[in-house]
Formats: sequence, C-alpha cells, structure tokens
Amino acid sequence: MKALALHLGHNATAAIMQDGTILGVLSQEKIDNVKNSGAFPIEAAAALCEHAGWHLDGVGQVLLSSKIVYRPDAFATTLDRKNRQHSTQPVIALARRLERSVGAVFPAPFAFARTQLRQRQKIAGERYLADCLKVAKLDSKPLQRVEHHLCHARAAYHAAHRSAPGPVLVFTLDGEGDGISSTVTAVDALGNWRRLASSPAEHSLGWIYSATTRFLGMKMLEHEYKVMGLAPYAKQYFRDVYERVFAPAIWLDAANPLTFKSSINTAHFYDHLVENAVGERFDNIAAAAQQLIEDMVIAWVRAAIRQTGIGNICTGGGVFMNVKLNKRIQELPEVTHADFLPSCGDESLPIGALYDFAARNELHTQPLPNLYLGNNYSDAQIETFLNSNDAGKDYDVERTPDIERKLAEMIAAGEVVARFAGRGEWGARSLGNRAILAHPSQMESFYTVNDQIKSRDFWMPFAPTILDTFADRYLQGYDPAKTDAAYMITAFEIKPEAVTALRAVMHSGDFSVRPQVLRREANPKYYSLIQHFSEITGVGAVLNTSLNLHGYPLVATPEQALFTLKKSGLKNLALGSFLIRKK
Ligand SMILES: [Fe+2]
Repeated sequence: MKALALHLGHNATAAIMQDGTILGVLSQEKIDNVKNSGAFPIEAAAALCEHAGWHLDGVGQVLLSSKIVYRPDAFATTLDRKNRQHSTQPVIALARRLERSVGAVFPAPFAFARTQLRQRQKIAGERYLADCLKVAKLDSKPLQRVEHHLCHARAAYHAAHRSAPGPVLVFTLDGEGDGISSTVTAVDALGNWRRLASSPAEHSLGWIYSATTRFLGMKMLEHEYKVMGLAPYAKQYFRDVYERVFAPAIWLDAANPLTFKSSINTAHFYDHLVENAVGERFDNIAAAAQQLIEDMVIAWVRAAIRQTGIGNICTGGGVFMNVKLNKRIQELPEVTHADFLPSCGDESLPIGALYDFAARNELHTQPLPNLYLGNNYSDAQIETFLNSNDAGKDYDVERTPDIERKLAEMIAAGEVVARFAGRGEWGARSLGNRAILAHPSQMESFYTVNDQIKSRDFWMPFAPTILDTFADRYLQGYDPAKTDAAYMITAFEIKPEAVTALRAVMHSGDFSVRPQVLRREANPKYYSLIQHFSEITGVGAVLNTSLNLHGYPLVATPEQALFTLKKSGLKNLALGSFLIRKK
C-alpha cells in the first residue's frame, strides 16, 4: 500500500510510505525556498513520489497529521502580526482583561465567543482543505486524520532503532495541537499503546517558551533556539526573575503529576510578561525561561518513570528541539535509554501519521534508516544544470575525482567550503549533505562563516560533526548505548582537553556542543572527508552549518546552492563531484 501523509500549516511537509517503510520526507519550504512555508505541500509530495518512482495517482491512502485544519494564510497572518507587534492590540488586551475579571464571575459569554470563533476557523479550514485536495486530484482518495499528539508520539516511537523489545515511555510536548499541549504514553513489550495523561492547550509549557521568544524581540515558532543559546550568558541574578515571573505560572498538577496546570491561560503568557517582566535584563529572562522548561520537564519525566517503572523513553514535539533540556534528560540516572526524535517539530507529524496508519493496519514498521530523506541529484543532472546555466562564465568549474579528499585538504588549509552531495537532509539541520564546512579549531573560520555567509546572532555557536571514533575523546558523558547523538538533537559538555580542537564549534558561555556524531555507515562519503581531515590535522571533527543564506531554508536543489554561492561571501561549492570556485 502506497500512503501519503500531509502536515498542513507552519512548515507544511509531505511524507510517503510503502508497506511500513518511510521512503521520503520533504517540507514545502525546500520547494518554495521560503522558510517554514505554509503552502499546501503538494509539490513536495509530487517530488517525493517522483523520487520513489511513483505517481500521485498511485497513492492508495492519504493521511492528515492533525484533526483540525487551519487556513495557512490566517495562521501566518496572526503569527506575523504577533512577531511584528511588541504589544498585544489594545482591543484584544481589553477583552482579555475583561475575561480575567468579569469572566471569572460570568464565564458563559466568553466561552460562547471562543466557541464561535473556533467554529468559524474550523469551517474556513475545512473549505481550504477541500479546495486543495481537489486541485491536487487527491479528493477521490481515502482520507484519514490522525490526532496531532498521536502523530508526535508515533514518530518518536517508531522512528527509533531498538535493540530489544521492552516497555517504552513516550513523551510529547509542544505549543499545542488539536487542543493538547503534552502527552505521556506507555507502550508495552508487545507494542500495545496506553495514553496515561495529556495536558490541555491552555496549560502549555511550549507557549510559555514561545511567548518569551516573542517578548525578547525574536520570532516565535522559529527563534526559540536563540533563547536557549542566550540563557547560559546570564548570571545567577536571573533566579529572581525565575522565582517571581516564571515559576508561579505553571506546575505539575498534584492530582496527576503527569499533567501541567497553569495559573493563567498560557496562550496569553506574553501579556503576563508585559505586566511583570518589563525592565528585566534580556539574558535573565532567557535563562529564567530555560530554567523553567528544564525544571518542569525533568520533574514530569521523573514522575512518569516513578509511576510506571519504565526508564526507556522517547520524545517528540517541538519543545524537545531544546538540546539543553535533552542533555539534562539523558543525564537522569533513572533514564536507562533515551531516543530524542530529531527535527521533532510539526515537520515530523506526517512521519507519525504514516507510522500510525501502518500500526493500525498491522504492517511491520521500519525505523528511519537515517535522515537523508530528501532529493538526490546525479552528476549527470548536475552537469546538465551547470552547462545550461553557463556556470563556467562566472566560476571555475572542475570535475574532481576524489572530491571528499580535496575538500578535506581545503578545510585543513583554512578555507570554507559548501558541500551539496547525495540525498538532502530532512529537517532544519545540516547533516553534511547540504552543508557549509570549516575548520573546527580556528576562530577565523568561525568569523568567515558568520560574517560572510550566515549572519547569525553573535551569541549563537556553530555545531560540529564528530567522527564516532573521536566522540569519547571530546564529549563528557558520551554513552551511545544510552543516547544516540547522530542528529544534533542533544548536547554535551566538552572535555577540557578538547577545547582547543573544538574552539570554533562550542558554546562560549558553558563549553557545550550540539554534535552530530557520525558513523561511517550513516554517510560513508562524508565520513571519509572528515577522516582525511583528521589525518591532516589530528582533529576528528569539522564545523558543520546548514547551507543556506540567513532567513532561507536549507538548500534543496543545485539552483538554490548556486544562488547561495552567488549571494554570499562563500567562495567554494562542491556540487556532486564538481568543484565550483569564484573567479
Ligand atoms: Fe506539534
């Protein structure tokens, strides 16, 4: 059975599966070249089908990865307005104040107004969905909807490689989806699922973190990682903000400590910050939000393990993109094994919808083999592209037989190189195939990448790809039997003796790194590149950051790669076996 799953909305994504195996995942942003594109992902679906040798007509089942559908333009407009305006609109602020005061005594009119608004949004969303399916000629296919948090949980559970059967605890945590913000599910050794608890959208840790992101002048649902990156620079003074503004806002419900309960509707946490945190230092606010999320999630995970006796856990949902949180989870003694789903935001939902479909139809599911799930371009296709664009006019183009060795030599000599090879990565992070690579020990490389290409915020570090044979030498507490660190989804402190080698890829505030620990079988060519580099320099790692311009998604096509070369200070691009250098 050929199945197609679609996530609609922020960072719309398509995924395809055949007989329990995920064949490809592609976000629409990679087609549009618009970060977090919310356009209906039919072009992404078509590209995946073409790569798999299918045609959309042959799809036997369509899945939606949420029960509720919103019009993407309405969602994007609201999000854009929130990100641009640093105060809540006066009318809305007044309505919320009235709800908090008058609504506490007479809740019915406010509840009625909210129900009406939601109903209108639902009707508009359904109309949008029907129109899109018709245009895509998918309206005659059987369609099933899978609940948002079930998708997060299914993706987390089934994507992971398990060496032995046994009970697993699945945690999901995000802003909200289908009216829920967190779940805990126990899966027994036979694969039977039992949801133990869920928290409503109004009591959402994820919204608190996103509201803090907005309050700090950054984009919510996009820049949360910058708040995390800022947090280690705060001094202990942040404890006052934490105790006064953040800690009283949310707690574990005493009646059911697997759920969260908040003193205010967390969708309005931004207003809470306006009323209580204006004038506080930005780094203290970031550190307080980070402390809150770590303390609350650690208490939540511990409570679930205590209640069930299950220490083998996996996680899904956007909050678990927080690598510092994941670091604390993996360090818990009661966690025997932790699988953090990489790129676990809503772009992972269609994977979960497909796995749920497979599980309900008793198909044997296969874990994700790796994250190289995007499109591939052969050398012949790249050559045709270069010739048709007359690339030789502006660039030196040279076919290079052992391009990995050549790139390793260039990086060792201090050059910055872009690498476009093999299938593209699914998700936001480069895993070497759509990558900008540089020397991990030289701060000159760091500044070249940052100043001439990426324009990242000054407090944000880059990340390394580390050969598996060097990981134990560089990382404190590295234990691949407990946590796989292959996807830059968790963090480690680096060992003192590794500071010199990893100077340009560590967080300067706390000496931590967010590594991709690379095994040869995951990506043999990329592995050999770093191995050549280590033979020259003695360093078993490279600086690896995503190949894209600031504000653009990770590049997906040769056109986008060449565009990035043209528009940035980048001087070298390896497209397949072709080395392209600015003249
Ligand atoms: Fe979600």
